Amino acid sequence: MAHLSESAVGKINEICDRYISEPTPLMMILSDIQKEYGYIPLEVQELVSERTGISVAEIYGVVTFYSFFSLKPKGKYVIGCCLGTACYVKGAQQVIDKFSEILGIKPGETTDDGLFTLDALRCIGACGIAPAVSINGTVYPKVSVSAIPGIVDEYKAMGGAQ
Ligand code: FES
Repeated sequence: MAHLSESAVGKINEICDRYISEPTPLMMILSDIQKEYGYIPLEVQELVSERTGISVAEIYGVVTFYSFFSLKPKGKYVIGCCLGTACYVKGAQQVIDKFSEILGIKPGETTDDGLFTLDALRCIGACGIAPAVSINGTVYPKVSVSAIPGIVDEYKAMGGAQ
């Protein structure tokens, strides 16, 4: 709790109050917090628990179950490798392994410089261009292992500038 500024506490309480009278407020509360701050750390979950009476265990369960919620801040560039069936049969595992090797992080992790997060995704609706990779919403079609160093370099070159 000590890390949260007074204005963040106020904002989070306001989000809780916005949905508290709904029959199932938790998803709406967490979605708004995720949108506002980009992640939902434990101290925020504790604050939501205090305000709503929902247990921290239940909140933690929801945050960790759904991949669009995050416990840690994500990198500036979020690389989502689709591991759905169509992509998998076209070599998606080798694609994510290559990103992992180059960036030095496992899926779900963020590089120390805060530039990249690597995520494993389920089907992103681009099966016709498998294996597909999405970087901050831009979909890269038919990604080959040999193209990956160039893709990473492109984003490194943009660095913090975007
Ligand atoms: S399985 Fe990858 S886009 Fe559908």
